[in-house]
Amino acid sequence: MTILVTGATGKVGKSLVERLHEANAPVLLATRSGTAELPSKAVKFDWFDEETYAAPFEADPNIDKIFLIQPAIFDPLVYIKPFVELAIAMGVKRIIYVSSSALEKGDFVNGKVHEYLADRGVDYVILRPTSFTENFGTVYYHSIREKNEIFSACGDGKVAYVSVDDITQAACDALLAEKTTNNDVIIVGPQLYSHDEIAALLSDVLGRKITHRKLTSEEFRKALLNFGMEEKYAGMLVYIHEQIASGNEAAVTKTPNAYHGKYSLPEYFKAHKDTWIKA
Ligand SMILES: NC(=O)c1ccc[n+]([C@@H]2O[C@H](COP(=O)([O-])OP(=O)(O)OC[C@H]3O[C@@H](n4cnc5c(N)ncnc54)[C@H](OP(=O)(O)O)[C@@H]3O)[C@@H](O)[C@H]2O)c1
Repeated sequence: MTILVTGATGKVGKSLVERLHEANAPVLLATRSGTAELPSKAVKFDWFDEETYAAPFEADPNIDKIFLIQPAIFDPLVYIKPFVELAIAMGVKRIIYVSSSALEKGDFVNGKVHEYLADRGVDYVILRPTSFTENFGTVYYHSIREKNEIFSACGDGKVAYVSVDDITQAACDALLAEKTTNNDVIIVGPQLYSHDEIAALLSDVLGRKITHRKLTSEEFRKALLNFGMEEKYAGMLVYIHEQIASGNEAAVTKTPNAYHGKYSLPEYFKAHKDTWIKA
């Protein structure tokens, strides 16, 4: 029996593949290049090319579980639904999908996929992580390095940033469990911080002043559009920052049965300190 991993070159997918290898679970990677580092096997797969959807099942007829990560688009169901329908027809029994703590079943973007999978009659788990710790090495990489700042429309709202490693532990548990729970799991990090507090943590670790630039929702939306993001998808990220500003992301940490990760933001900053220091 084989687990097909989509988004396998991304932050979560790559870490998950390592964990699944450690657990000796048979894995096939769906990648746009169709290649993967040994010992992984890969097959060419592109969400925007429906002709590639059958390739994983031709390469390995034993696929029974799928780890699903969507590309950054506003209407993922257009692509995910035909693929999942084919996968179920080919014998897939379990789907583990990454959504967001800020998006409920039926909400836009990931929330629509959550709703579809819950209603489809396939075993599933919806992983709902809060904001990723690793965003400080991607989204904020340039602004911390070059401008000594992080920016957000989160105001003084707090968020329990969670590491990819903790998310993949939850993903691995969901993929390898005897039975699925057929529900959604909120995944949060060990501690809540405001972005002012995060800027202070970064200042301590880097030994220079890092500030938090507080943006309005409109200013944040414009910044995302300047990065070249699709307008509606940028709207979703603005919505998530508004959720944080309103205290909703602090509240989700109290959800019963939430998965509480262990890797803290200060640990991450210390371990990756060189990322934000110019040579
Ligand atoms: N960042 C956060 O704070 C946060 C919080 C909650 C939830 N999430 C959710 O996490 C997910 C993103 O996970 P991530 O950070 O691990 O992703 P990531 O690092 O951005 O990687 C994206 C992956 O998707 C693949 N991909 C992109 N376009 C594709 C296409 N057309 N066909 C096939 N594969 C394609 C990429 O492959 P290539 O190597 O070919 O580009 C890559 O493997 C999103 O659903 C997001 O909503 C993120």
